[in-house]
Amino acid sequence: MIWNLGSINADFFYGVPHLPDAGETLAATSFAKGLGGKGANMSVAAARAAARVSHIGGIGDDGRWAETRLLEYGVETQHIAVMDEPTGHAIICVDAEGENSIVLFPGANHAITEQMIGKALTEASPGDFLLMQNETNGQVFAAETAKTLGLRVVYAAAPFSTDAVMALMGKIDLLVLNEVEATQLLEGTGQALEDVPVDDIVVTLGSEGCKWVSNKGNSTQSFPAFKVDPVDTTGAGDTFTGYLVASLDRGLPMAEAIDLAMRAGALMVTRQGTADVIPDLKDIQDHDFS
Ligand code: RIB
Repeated sequence: MIWNLGSINADFFYGVPHLPDAGETLAATSFAKGLGGKGANMSVAAARAAARVSHIGGIGDDGRWAETRLLEYGVETQHIAVMDEPTGHAIICVDAEGENSIVLFPGANHAITEQMIGKALTEASPGDFLLMQNETNGQVFAAETAKTLGLRVVYAAAPFSTDAVMALMGKIDLLVLNEVEATQLLEGTGQALEDVPVDDIVVTLGSEGCKWVSNKGNSTQSFPAFKVDPVDTTGAGDTFTGYLVASLDRGLPMAEAIDLAMRAGALMVTRQGTADVIPDLKDIQDHDFS
């Protein structure tokens, strides 16, 4: 079982000829709205990967549609509270190469209470996973509570903050980073991945694949990327992480979990959108990755 303390956003997508420069006014060529938030994306990905996942999060009165949609996608929503804040949203520009830039308004994602987290985690069992990203408040309390209860704690350090990741050191079992975040970690802490006190660190490297640093096993393993034509990279990392944790929860060894997560992430970059278009296990099985 996965307990995901995670953000829930309305995603507003703007197709743009290039990512806007400072001071530039730019006309979008397309517009779409969907369900997103790194947290919600990971919950949906984990559910698509056949895991049982309960989302811990907050929405405003304007976000009831998001809770309904999560439920429709197979995510348990009893621990999503309607708060006195507007639902979070994201302004996402996607250029012709599929690269993005994102502006976030956190709203209810930053109003989560310790009481909400504690209530949810009292239902957890030893061996369950607590998954978190850096788009909500309450991460340290959640990690400490989860450790006390014997959960395995996974942190996707996105958006990256040195302070946020340092506050969690000693409380997480698996750290997931992309290439940029791995560089930020090195610059922010002065520590190479091999010196970071976390048992397992997985770094996604885009077209270069993925790297697994096992500090517990004293080893590093590289995984080549699956070749795809990118349309939109938004949410691909979240899809990877949701699949990774779902696969570990199912008892797969790390290398197999990474392989499945990489397939899911690769397929995701061929799709426009976030939570609403995350592939399921059958999509992955049916796709020719050769
Ligand atoms: O990683 C993509 C996500 O980042 C989007 O869904 C957006 O809501 C932001 O949280």
